[in-house]
Amino acid sequence: MKQLPMLDLRLQYEYMKNDIDAALKKCLDHQKWILGPEVKELEDKIAAYLGVKHCIGASSGTESLVMSLRALSISLTGREFFDGTDEIITTPFTFTATGDTILRAGATPVFIDVDPDTYNIDVRKVRQYLTSPQKGKVVGIVPVHLYGQSCDMDEVMRLAGEFNLFVVEDVAQAFGGSWKGRKLGSIGDFGSFSFFPAKNLGGFGDGGIISTNNDQTAELVRMLLKHGGKDKYNVDHVGYNGRLDTLQAAILLAKFKYIEEFNERRGRVAGQYDNGLKGLDGIVTPRTLPDAQHVYHQYTLRCTRGDRDEFQKRLKDKGVSTMVYYPYPLHKMKVFGNGRSKTFGSLANAEKASESVFSLPIEPLQSAEDTAYVIECVKGLVS
Ligand SMILES: Cc1ncc(COP(=O)(O)O)c(C=O)c1O
Repeated sequence: MKQLPMLDLRLQYEYMKNDIDAALKKCLDHQKWILGPEVKELEDKIAAYLGVKHCIGASSGTESLVMSLRALSISLTGREFFDGTDEIITTPFTFTATGDTILRAGATPVFIDVDPDTYNIDVRKVRQYLTSPQKGKVVGIVPVHLYGQSCDMDEVMRLAGEFNLFVVEDVAQAFGGSWKGRKLGSIGDFGSFSFFPAKNLGGFGDGGIISTNNDQTAELVRMLLKHGGKDKYNVDHVGYNGRLDTLQAAILLAKFKYIEEFNERRGRVAGQYDNGLKGLDGIVTPRTLPDAQHVYHQYTLRCTRGDRDEFQKRLKDKGVSTMVYYPYPLHKMKVFGNGRSKTFGSLANAEKASESVFSLPIEPLQSAEDTAYVIECVKGLVS
């Protein structure tokens, strides 16, 4: 029987082996493990690719978010951390890190429901909150480009302008994606990316990068990731050991050569899934916005009838792996309880999504034959 994983990192390594092995050998030769030349080379290449002034390598996507928020706290309020009266709007349907980094930066996350079809934050509800009596001292918004698809960045930026909010784009899942031709991570005040191995551009361990056009906040992030000072033995701010490893940067530089090709490959797999699964009774395929260039970090279906767990089990029995991103919306988690977060109105779309979505294998090197096999298996669930 076929065994189809969500992603096959070994296959990808074999495909890029010469480039990756050469990159590793170069590091072994120079032995500059901390902030070696590959880190700056990667930062410069990604900055040029995104069309931004600065990119700063970081130890993970999570630390990228924290350091972006901290830099904004220092530059906007003069305080090291936000405080609980500072509200930051985000989605409840995301990875924990999006919300928990807001807590770590000292602020209160305000969870606002998602659009039922794209699963991204519903910008109409964000506007409703910002004009409602429940609104507190909102300082910023962290839109998440979930599964590789951009939020409506026109409206996010309009709201930011009208209500004087900063925008930190969480681009962890959308490296290479764009909105109306502008690369994600280049639109808000900061873009925060993850190089977790399974991401569209993934390393061989943890890593991340921060993008910005602002010289002052870029400088602050560079201080924060080195313990909080320009001189790490005489520091100004409460900082982190948040640097990107040379070794990861070297691997990422080798893999970066393939990012456009691999995103296109993901698009092809997604197109085949769309053609095979669209219109099936009981299954909803992803809705893409015409202005968003989706990079399909995940291809996520929603079941409208039947039992999602049962679907997953039946697919597993046929050798098809699936995953649920995410089974618990953030506002239901203990960590966001005890008054640490706020919700606005009903979060029913996020709750429904967490009960009904599941993602199919989307390995860029997956053959058309394997994709067709997955399609047949999914059709079998609802016929
Ligand atoms: C939406 C989102 N935000 C933040 C993160 C955190 O990134 P990392 O795992 O690199 O810390 C992830 C990835 O896992 C993510 O998917």
